[in-house]
Amino acid sequence: MKNTIVVGAQWGDEGKGKLVDVLAEQSDLVVRFNGGGNAGHTVMHDGETYKFHYMPSGMLHHKTCILGTGVVINPKDLLEEMESFTSSGHSPKLKISARAHVIFPHHQLIDAKEGGKIGTTGRGIGPTYSQKASRINLRMLDIIADDAEQRIKTALKDVKDMLVSEGILSEQDYNDYCSSVAVEYAKYGQHFKPFITDTEDLVRIASKSGQSVLFEGAQGTLLDLNYGTYPYVTSSSTLAAAAYVGGGAIPGVPIRILGITKAYTTRVGEGPFPTELHGEAATLLRETGHEYGATTGRPRRVGHLDLYALRYAIRISGIQELAMTKIDTLALVSGIKVCTAYKINDKVIDYFPADAPTLELVEPIYTEIDSISSLSREDWSKLKTGNKAALPESIRNYIKFIEDYVEIPISILSHGPERNETIVF
Ligand code: GDP
Ligand code: IMO
Ligand code: MG
Repeated sequence: MKNTIVVGAQWGDEGKGKLVDVLAEQSDLVVRFNGGGNAGHTVMHDGETYKFHYMPSGMLHHKTCILGTGVVINPKDLLEEMESFTSSGHSPKLKISARAHVIFPHHQLIDAKEGGKIGTTGRGIGPTYSQKASRINLRMLDIIADDAEQRIKTALKDVKDMLVSEGILSEQDYNDYCSSVAVEYAKYGQHFKPFITDTEDLVRIASKSGQSVLFEGAQGTLLDLNYGTYPYVTSSSTLAAAAYVGGGAIPGVPIRILGITKAYTTRVGEGPFPTELHGEAATLLRETGHEYGATTGRPRRVGHLDLYALRYAIRISGIQELAMTKIDTLALVSGIKVCTAYKINDKVIDYFPADAPTLELVEPIYTEIDSISSLSREDWSKLKTGNKAALPESIRNYIKFIEDYVEIPISILSHGPERNETIVF
């Protein structure tokens, strides 16, 4: 199988974890390339639910899994996730990039103070990437070094003035913080030492020797730092291109770019959401789809499928095919519409607004869609032929409508959270 990049084509939580779990069976290596503990990727298999924040969703297949250079890592949280996975009888085969940046407690404190207006996950993502860009943060290779404690203390000096002047820590707390965090993180370093390596080299060797590498994106294209609904975005690149920069994908090696979309739309946190539903209709969709964040437990905002935004995401991420999830949820709600165009001040527009306040002004133009047939598990299991023609007419029409609009195929349909509730066409 060719190398594959899986990315979210909306605002995250599209079902990337489930799809990566499905595709990992055929892959040799699974690589996370962006984000950190803000991600919550759910995999359900044999009635067990796993929520991965760091560990790639290929873990259940015991494939070698990599946290690439583009990922930011809170070692404490990663350790807990690994221990919980191990205690449930699994053995993680994990490799971590020496170059991946470290999330420290002060990043979370800054995020808690400043992230409110964006509605961040509070995992310290923005401050870590921001200090990475300012070239004052530490990487995994620093916390495994023999002089790790000293390196941590020195790095903390660079942020002391900011932490104290912004009231994040008092002068006294800063001193206590410095010594305790240096000891604590040097210990994590010793724990993670055997896992840390040049992961790009592993990816390169695997790609060159014909092995199949699966790149797992976090968040979604519309949360991309450069092309998303800025400033209501995350602080990393979430596009397929980020698999090259943050995961070691090699330009020129053939790759399949698979975007994941729900059959409707959700978003967690603040920011424009043109097709958002409110009131009873929103509650019904949210409860039917169990739309609560896998990382923070926050209720997700829900709305109609926004094909206009999806097409934009497909274009900027270079998505070649789509996997559509949660068709089973959409089948349980009535009044389905899809947005096919945007109007501002009564004028149809032909661009995706880069300016968040302008996007707030958008009036979506909808096309009504026939209700989607609701199928029993047994009915679904009879449809595993991989043939779109065998699907009920309403689902076939919905797929065809979307494919015609976005001009790429829906090659996978997911009709439940379990691995086997998936049809590959
Ligand atoms: P991710 O962040 O993209 O991996 O997505 P999340 O795990 O945050 O959210 C997706 C949710 O939808 C999870 O609870 C999945 O178990 C669930 N899910 C994925 N695909 C389907 C599907 O086709 N049908 C239903 N009902 N649930 C699904
Ligand atoms: P997965 O990988 C959905 C959102 C947050 C907030 C914004 C910035 O599970 O799809 P951050 O903590 O990254 O600084 O928050 O981005 N966000 C997500 N929304 N799914 C995610 O990840 C998200 N990761 C971040 O809610 O609006
Ligand atoms: Mg998620």
